[in-house]
Amino acid sequence: MEIVESIELLQQRMMSARAAGKTIAFVPTMGFLHAGHCSLLEEGRRRGDLLVLSIFVNPTQFGQGEDFEDYPRDLQKDCTLAQEAGVDLIFAPSAVAMYPHGYATEVNVAGITAGLCGASRPSHFRGVCTVVTKLFNIVQPHVAVFGTKDFQQLAVVKRMTRDLNLPIEIIGMPIYREADGLALSSRNVYLDPEQRQQALALSQGITLAQELVKQGQTDAATVIAAVSCHLGAQSQVRSDYVAICHQSTLEPQQQIDGDSVLLVAALVGRTRLIDNGYLMDL
Ligand code: PAJ
Repeated sequence: MEIVESIELLQQRMMSARAAGKTIAFVPTMGFLHAGHCSLLEEGRRRGDLLVLSIFVNPTQFGQGEDFEDYPRDLQKDCTLAQEAGVDLIFAPSAVAMYPHGYATEVNVAGITAGLCGASRPSHFRGVCTVVTKLFNIVQPHVAVFGTKDFQQLAVVKRMTRDLNLPIEIIGMPIYREADGLALSSRNVYLDPEQRQQALALSQGITLAQELVKQGQTDAATVIAAVSCHLGAQSQVRSDYVAICHQSTLEPQQQIDGDSVLLVAALVGRTRLIDNGYLMDL
């Protein structure tokens, strides 16, 4: 496994891999890898001859007052996990290499980025789309693997890839959860034991919604109210949104159908967590 910091060197490596007829699979991350990231790497390993992992805590997707500085980092542990997952190449550029003095270009996807996380993090998806486009251009993968944990991000990346005719297949992998249901997240390290317990309200809310739908409930407002009530019962959980949307357009739905996904974001203490789940055809 090779660790490359230089953009030019990475591009050379990718050019030779393509010339040798290799299929390149790519998993972009911000590091501090956990089993969720590893499940994406395993899928990448299955789909590519060459598996590339990027580790870059992208400053442009963090808003003012968010946790860019505090975001957990552990490159050494990441390297061990990456090696175990069969990564061929880690791309870990510096912020100044990615955004040199005079950097002026952004990628913005309209509409689908306005609601949900985009409502409380207005510049977030612009930062994500910009860095993902740059990473795609540098790595030039055939396939890129993302998690449905960040459901809106995956929908936005799919839309951007389609709109910009990027010749990359975007794969979405299921949410990897702890045994008690908590979705794995690098940010879970911020939670103290009580908050860790209360954070279960998110996944429990999703299970509750799925049960209501199984019992025949199709009115979105009723299901949203039940989930909000469940979140509200925890003293340290403050809901940001509970929404039922169409899985591709992310338009809010009034009636639940086979395309419905429930999306939840909440502050647990000062940690912002997200979770989601499909409501039918489980
Ligand atoms: P990061 O939060 O490190 O996540 C990297 C990838 O891992 C994303 O596609 C995310 O959806 C996926 N992931 C995170 N937790 C997961 C879980 N519990 N189960 C399955 N997949 C999970 O998302 C980002 O980084 C950044 O925004 C990035 C796309 C790298 C751009 O900077």
